[in-house]
Amino acid sequence: MTEHARVLEQLPGHLALRHPAPADHPRLQQALAGWWDGLGGEAGALQRQLLVPRLFLQHFADTSFWVERPDHTLHAFLIGFLSQTDPRVAYIHFVGVCPEGRREGIGSALYDRFFTTARAAGRTQVRCITSPNNRNSIAYHTRMGFHLEPGDRIDDDGVPLQGDYDGPGLDRVSFVRKL
Ligand SMILES: CC(C)(COP(=O)(O)OP(=O)(O)OC[C@H]1O[C@@H](n2cnc3c(N)ncnc32)[C@H](O)[C@@H]1OP(=O)(O)O)[C@@H](O)C(=O)NCCC(=O)NCCS
Repeated sequence: MTEHARVLEQLPGHLALRHPAPADHPRLQQALAGWWDGLGGEAGALQRQLLVPRLFLQHFADTSFWVERPDHTLHAFLIGFLSQTDPRVAYIHFVGVCPEGRREGIGSALYDRFFTTARAAGRTQVRCITSPNNRNSIAYHTRMGFHLEPGDRIDDDGVPLQGDYDGPGLDRVSFVRKL
């Protein structure tokens, strides 16, 4: 029994799960630009694309997941890895579910798959970060059992922010979840 009630036992039959490959990179780049509901405008889309270069599909494919439809169009993806530096930690770098496929348990199914992979590799915690303006991501991660780590200040909604985490003006929200 999984911890999260809505985790799908299996993906719906028309969806196929596999690990991504370098040849998937152009489709991933399209999703990073188009699936974030316009967050950050064109600059935000470019920033997301640059945050997931091809190397993730070359060197982190075994801990990343790709969900596609029978016509091979992309439905959802998760890019994650095992920390090389901290043997306790597994890290989810990016996750996306196509806009028309949300709230159907696909995001939690991908997380559950990643948690299983991380546990099998002896990891005891999963970490990730998100931008303070990505309220959907904060709500989703909270629902998925992640805790918000303390920050150096708290925003108007009570969310703890780590100021300048990724550079000047690039505040982040940090999450951790025990496995
Ligand atoms: C965040 C995202 C991956 C969630 O995927 P999903 O398939 O819709 O999630 P699920 O259907 O598995 O939902 C899991 C739980 O989170 C909740 N949840 C999902 N999106 C939510 C939202 N925007 N606000 C509040 N709760 C949300 C669901 O209600 C569900 O909880 P429940 O079991 O109590 O009903 C998806 O909305 C997405 O791709 N968003 C755009 C990209 C993004 O922001 N990625 C995250 C940062 S990298």
